[in-house]
Amino acid sequence: MFMAMSSKEKYTRLTHVGPGTDAGEVLRRYWQPVALTEELDGPRPVKAVQLMGEHLVLFRCSDTYRLANRACPHRGVDLAYGRLEEDGLRCLFHGWLFDGRGNCLEQPAEPAESDAYTGVKHVAYPCLERNGIIFAYLGPAEAPPLPELDCFIAPTEQVFSYKGLWHCNWLQALEVGIDPAHASFLHRFFEDDSLDEAYGRQFRDEAADSNVSLTKVLREFERPEIKIEKTDYGFRLITLRELDEQNTHVRVTNLLFPNAIVIPMSKEMVIAQWHVPIDEHTCYWYSMFVSFAGPVDKEIMRAQRIDMNPPPDYKPKYGPHNQWGYNSEEQKFRTYTGMGDDINVHDQWAVESPGPIVDRSMQRLGRSDIGIVHYRRMLTDTMDAILNGENTMPMSDAESINKIRGPVAIDEIGPADQWQHCWKERDLLRRNASGWATDPWKEQ
Ligand code: FES
Ligand SMILES: [Fe+2]
Repeated sequence: MFMAMSSKEKYTRLTHVGPGTDAGEVLRRYWQPVALTEELDGPRPVKAVQLMGEHLVLFRCSDTYRLANRACPHRGVDLAYGRLEEDGLRCLFHGWLFDGRGNCLEQPAEPAESDAYTGVKHVAYPCLERNGIIFAYLGPAEAPPLPELDCFIAPTEQVFSYKGLWHCNWLQALEVGIDPAHASFLHRFFEDDSLDEAYGRQFRDEAADSNVSLTKVLREFERPEIKIEKTDYGFRLITLRELDEQNTHVRVTNLLFPNAIVIPMSKEMVIAQWHVPIDEHTCYWYSMFVSFAGPVDKEIMRAQRIDMNPPPDYKPKYGPHNQWGYNSEEQKFRTYTGMGDDINVHDQWAVESPGPIVDRSMQRLGRSDIGIVHYRRMLTDTMDAILNGENTMPMSDAESINKIRGPVAIDEIGPADQWQHCWKERDLLRRNASGWATDPWKEQ
């Protein structure tokens, strides 16, 4: 007999990501960040990683990245301690050698004439590297190509990548990125600060085409109109703040299905950010900061982030253990949160303070939550489609992936009656000047 799902069950279904879960099946059909390349830079490029509840070992040999199950298929010991050799990783227990591509190459304790090793299969997943991040594909069939996003095609000197740990379910983390209304509150600064691009201060820049600081726009215009436009890669959020009769502030952000966002950072920079489940209760954010204007200062960017999320596990300096740095005096006079200038800490509080998996059946969503409502529906529809054997998810084949460009993420103040165009034109100027960025509006 068919039993209807309770609303609690419907929401739980969105959050679970282990093998065989519905949401896990969706996430596995897309390339996912698995580590920063810097994590394998040391003398022994082997690292234990956890991704979507799976315990894996990532290693580099013959100049390629390999990702395999951590448990040895012989008797289950941990391959993350294995001996790294030219052709693969050798188990410490009985010396079986694995190539990290699913094959066992040797079983040295077996009789010399035995070819039983050819029948031993080991779970392994394809990997590739782009601009500082190693991506893995854990899905069925052959891995699809990566789309030609700005963060993937930009010259290496113009991209900086980093990661950080959050103690919450991946969906909680993702939902803050498709909620444009919160920036007027959570990230409010009572005064406009200097226009530097210090870590965590992306709202301090001016909107393109203006000398109005974003802090001021967000602070003074707290009821935005949010529009959703369906795209080939997910959806675009257009957030309008009508400044006066002539001028509108337009902020364009994106949901890159299923678990990434692309948002503006400053006039010349955008951020692509993935929220990748480690397990049900923790996730990593992986950010690629892309500049259209020339090389980025990776040393400075890294120094600022190392302080807040130091390797090797990139755990945050602030969190529930120190009340996310909360200070009541600061809250009175300087910031809305009382948690410092770093907007990443504000977001971290927003996603961690409800507990690792918030009970969504108790939530009361409003009009400003339109992005979240849209996303939950999209994920549910995709999970159902996969169960029904239909292929309706975004970027489901090479042809649709090859059409993806950009996506455009920008803040712009333009004439109120031209908000549909002004941001596209402004973005095209920086693309044309960059020497590498493509025109996202040209038919592919
Ligand atoms: S447990 Fe790995 S070779 Fe025996
Ligand atoms: Fe935020």
